[in-house]
Amino acid sequence: MSTTTDLIEVSERRSAHNYHPLPVVIREAHGAWVTDVEGKRYLDCLAGYSSLNFGHGNPKIIEAAQEQLKNLTLTSRAFYHDQFATFCAGLGDLTGKDMILPMNTGAEAVETAIKVARKWGYEVKGVQPEQANIIVMEDNFHGRTTTIVSFSTDPDARDNFGPYTPGFRIVKYGTVEAIREAVDANTVAVLFEPIQGEAGVLVPPDGYLTQVRELCTAEGILMIADEIQSGLGRTGKTFACDHEGVVPDMYVLGKALGGGVVPVSAIAANEDVLGVIKPGQHGSTFGGNPLACAVGNAVIEILNTGEYQSRAAELGEVLHARLRELIGHGVVTVRGRGLWAGVDIDPSLATGRQVSKELMARGVLAKDTHGSTIRLAPPIVISEEDLLWAVDQLADTIASFR
Ligand SMILES: Cc1ncc(COP(=O)(O)O)c(C=O)c1O
Repeated sequence: MSTTTDLIEVSERRSAHNYHPLPVVIREAHGAWVTDVEGKRYLDCLAGYSSLNFGHGNPKIIEAAQEQLKNLTLTSRAFYHDQFATFCAGLGDLTGKDMILPMNTGAEAVETAIKVARKWGYEVKGVQPEQANIIVMEDNFHGRTTTIVSFSTDPDARDNFGPYTPGFRIVKYGTVEAIREAVDANTVAVLFEPIQGEAGVLVPPDGYLTQVRELCTAEGILMIADEIQSGLGRTGKTFACDHEGVVPDMYVLGKALGGGVVPVSAIAANEDVLGVIKPGQHGSTFGGNPLACAVGNAVIEILNTGEYQSRAAELGEVLHARLRELIGHGVVTVRGRGLWAGVDIDPSLATGRQVSKELMARGVLAKDTHGSTIRLAPPIVISEEDLLWAVDQLADTIASFR
């Protein structure tokens, strides 16, 4: 069993159909390029939904993982281990926060943020028992747990998974007035993505993050930024909130924190917030494990140089300038920031899926979302030449449908 056809046939037959992958079976990858089992190479323009910001097989990250594999991989949090302090202090410094609570996947970090916000609401803000509410956004994507899908507005994500967790108020994204109208005395937090990734790379209007910050401060509400996809270099800054110089009360991080090697997620907040969690009240056997922390430490060191943030900003200019030229030539709109773009294809030409498949045939891996949007988020290590080549392939693909 080694050919693409065989491997896909068995995968489809023996796994749940919770994804609809492109028909490519990848065997190895370096930098921004992957190779399939037939030996064909593709430029990766998805980067594991921004988990691979620093490239496939980043030497510094792989070296850290290999070193750690030789020494210690798991202790559980029943004991301390020698990578933990550096990880929490390093991520705390990167986020400017006192404390870190490490988990594994993004959804777990979001769950953690929700639990901490509620507990803070009852114990610090003085909300009456069971009355806390959290304001969330239309078209959000925060993961797949039962609580998180309870406040999804995407029928695929939500339908038939009830009964749903109460305590969430869904408002329009991008306007602070919508949040203001939803706030009451029991509101403990506003949970939002500084750029909505899965919704199609929706960038809120300038000033939105600042206004949300001001509102949360005025009302005594926690501002929780889910930077799982937008953070850690992707947008040309360490965090997407940095574009407005805004500091949320809590960062929710994941994806690239694990360097594309292991799942590593965390929330970061100050002691007045995260201090509400006491022994036995939250945790995870694998959260903050030695391998995860060693990888995370390499990622934090990389981010501390600022090189990837600058590179994403510079290449982002190149990407967006070139994509804008396609508007009116089969492209309706282009959104995004840094090395991250949502490209709306004229739906009368082709579906996003058709475009993705044709791109794949031309050696570019990208994924569609919401019908006719193509997301481009290559590893930040991509060369300018390769990036422009990928956009040329997109232009040729669209032309082939016209
Ligand atoms: C903004 C955001 N939050 C949370 C998640 C969930 O992360 P995970 O798939 O690791 O659970 C994602 C994943 O795409 C995301 O983009």
